[in-house]
Amino acid sequence: MPETAVATALLEAQGLKKRYGDFEVLKGIDLKVNKGEVVAVLGPNGCGKSTFLRCLNLLEPYQDGRVLLDGEIASVGIPSGRPRTRAEEAAAQALRRRMGMVFQRFNLFPHMSVLDNVMLAPRKVRGMSGQDAREMAERMIAKVGMNEFTHRAPKTLSGGQQQRAAIARALAMEPEVLLLDEITSALDPAMTREVFKVVRALAGDGITMLLVTHDLPFARDTADRAVVIHKGLVAADGTPEAVLSDALPAELRELLAL
Ligand SMILES: Nc1ncnc2c1ncn2[C@@H]1O[C@H](COP(=O)(O)OP(=O)(O)OP(=O)(O)O)[C@@H](O)[C@H]1O
Ligand SMILES: [Mg+2]
Repeated sequence: MPETAVATALLEAQGLKKRYGDFEVLKGIDLKVNKGEVVAVLGPNGCGKSTFLRCLNLLEPYQDGRVLLDGEIASVGIPSGRPRTRAEEAAAQALRRRMGMVFQRFNLFPHMSVLDNVMLAPRKVRGMSGQDAREMAERMIAKVGMNEFTHRAPKTLSGGQQQRAAIARALAMEPEVLLLDEITSALDPAMTREVFKVVRALAGDGITMLLVTHDLPFARDTADRAVVIHKGLVAADGTPEAVLSDALPAELRELLAL
């Protein structure tokens, strides 16, 4: 990039505030994520990491602040109690198509094959033809190393295999940003390694990711940046080496069990 060019963040949260009833979980989150960047979102249990990801793709409403995608306003906070207008709901649907999300629990349809699970959204949401959706799904299944399980039902697969299928399903929407919420915390160490390998490969492909994890070695290995959420705000932001160093305030080091 020429020195004079100003990089537009691919994803930007500005002053995002979220409350549940009287309890303000997020008190004004500011975060910029550049295209191709992998940002680890760290913080103690209950600090609001999942809530933040869910607000970003509007699975949860938030009350104040805004989210920009590729420099354009993608959503704005809506005061408590006011339901989304039809236009806002349509915008929320459009936004969710641009942000893939993978959860701790895989949420695959248990009786449908891996292929059918991965094809579903491209068919129904993107309106792709059966042939195109199938080719896309097969490509994504190959990307996560699951070819041999294409026709298996998730309930016959290990947790790691199911999680890789869930990643393929998110990728099949070709999202601009992938939000991953503790995707290995229900897995044993061997399955965790196989899923991490897939995430590292995606990072190598330049996919922009926000990665909530308690696994600090994984964050160090995989992320370009780490942020710590504490008391509703971004309390630290930098390279994983810098954030997870002695320079981090003692209170945060203790909370992260550093
Ligand atoms: N639907 C809800 N209603 C009320 N409070 C909620 C709701 N969901 C989450 N909270 C509260 O909001 C806070 C943040 O929760 P969140 O799940 O975002 O934390 P987290 O950082 O993801 O934690 P963990 O590391 O345990 O996954 C917690 O105090 C939680 O109890
Ligand atoms: Mg969480």
